Amino acid sequence: MSEVKNDELIPSAKRLIKSLRDMGYDFSTAVADLIDNSIDAGATEIHVNVQFEGDDSWVSVADNGRGMTTAEIREALRFGSETEYDVKNLGKFGLGLKTASLSQCQVLSVASRSDPKESKISAFCWDLDHIERVNRWEILPIKMDEMHRMLREPLLKSTGTVVMWQKLDRILGYKHPYGEFARKRMATMCRELEDHLAMVFHRFLIGETQRKKITIYLNGNSVRPWDPFARSESKTQCLLSTEIPCEFEEISGIVHIQPFILPPKDEFSGRDAWEHASGPKKWNQQQGLYIYRGDRLIQSGGWSRLRTVDEHTKLARIAISFNPELDDAFKINVAKMRVQLPVQIQEPIQRVIEPVVKRARDRYDRPSKPSVPRPISNPPPNPPVVTTGNPPITSSSPTQITSHENPTGQARPIVQEHTPGYPDTSQVGLVNKEKLWTLEEIQTKLEAAAEPDERQIISRVFTKLRRLLSG
Ligand SMILES: Nc1ncnc2c1ncn2[C@@H]1O[C@H](COP(=O)(O)OP(=O)(O)O)[C@@H](O)[C@H]1O
Ligand SMILES: [Mg+2]
Repeated sequence: MSEVKNDELIPSAKRLIKSLRDMGYDFSTAVADLIDNSIDAGATEIHVNVQFEGDDSWVSVADNGRGMTTAEIREALRFGSETEYDVKNLGKFGLGLKTASLSQCQVLSVASRSDPKESKISAFCWDLDHIERVNRWEILPIKMDEMHRMLREPLLKSTGTVVMWQKLDRILGYKHPYGEFARKRMATMCRELEDHLAMVFHRFLIGETQRKKITIYLNGNSVRPWDPFARSESKTQCLLSTEIPCEFEEISGIVHIQPFILPPKDEFSGRDAWEHASGPKKWNQQQGLYIYRGDRLIQSGGWSRLRTVDEHTKLARIAISFNPELDDAFKINVAKMRVQLPVQIQEPIQRVIEPVVKRARDRYDRPSKPSVPRPISNPPPNPPVVTTGNPPITSSSPTQITSHENPTGQARPIVQEHTPGYPDTSQVGLVNKEKLWTLEEIQTKLEAAAEPDERQIISRVFTKLRRLLSG
């Protein structure tokens, strides 16, 4: 039998590479994609530098991660590079380094050092002018004595990688790269970048992930994490977390949901703190869902079509976290800017967020009035989901308030507040000396003193008790 030889059709380099520049990145999301790579490489320090020098302006991202050998850099620069991902990896398509970078610049250089004992640095670049000339997928080696100092200097002391962008046509526009307009534009982009990195990587910057804590420097200044849930505010309510199993094409995983209700303006510790908590898109647009993939924020606010933003519900912010194994279920895009809530978990999520939103609305409408005993009404419906909190607390309703750890790891005081209008348990509490204890307070106290396996039992008992009391 004669063997049929298939024709390999190599795409036109100069045409395809141009179209790959438009994958939906902006400056901030492009830099964030490089930082994902640094985190995956185990870096603890990441220096982002943005230099305005007209035509010669440049951006660099230097990390102290494990670095790459010469062969590894070549593979890293390949579109659709092949890598072994583990479950925690922030990378996904083997494209980010190239597509994020070329969305902003015409020359992308990568220098790396992988041997802590040997100071050998290898470097290559993609140059769009060269591709235009030769119409081949060719990267160019960069000799040590031709390397820009910013590619070399960060690697003199330790292993790591430097990514550098030059010919910033998409950032500066090429008509007046030296003009005042270009300078101001770059300054504004730097401010937006700082806000974006502070938000997207806040869990890594605080050091609350299972990976190493990182520090990001932007032009020498360390980026301070922005916590969307204002957990350092004593009046922030951290409600019980919920876990929803999610299955998609034979892959199953868990989606973790953690609701918060932020304090109304007059209960914030100060005006500055209130302004700071409002976030890059401000209070109204920052309400809603914060979707994390492997602890890295993908979506910050909005309700993913489950409801609409509303001034009255702006205090509700809800963290939804999943691991990359559920990428296909969440349909993450290349620029890691967009996910879709899987259809099969939309209803359970809706049931979890409804009572949270109600509580947020009540808190907004009646911020600081004392609670008034009122007849018992039915508690909110039980979400039909497995609810194993972290710490493992099982609850029928996510609207109970529990203590939480603040970002520095210190236990925070238990928040005990009643929102008038919300099914109130104050009239069914116990009197102890002067104090009337609510069921919620008793449960929280008991759970705080209990071992993890006891908490589930306590939670179940209280759920039953509430059902009995509400008739
Ligand atoms: N800063 C870095 N340090 C070490 N290796 C890196 C770095 N940046 C990229 N790489 C390597 O290059 C590969 C390709 O990166 P990228 O194009 O962003 O795709 P992805 O992150 O989806 O794998 C990564 O998987 C990694 O092996
Ligand atoms: Mg990547």
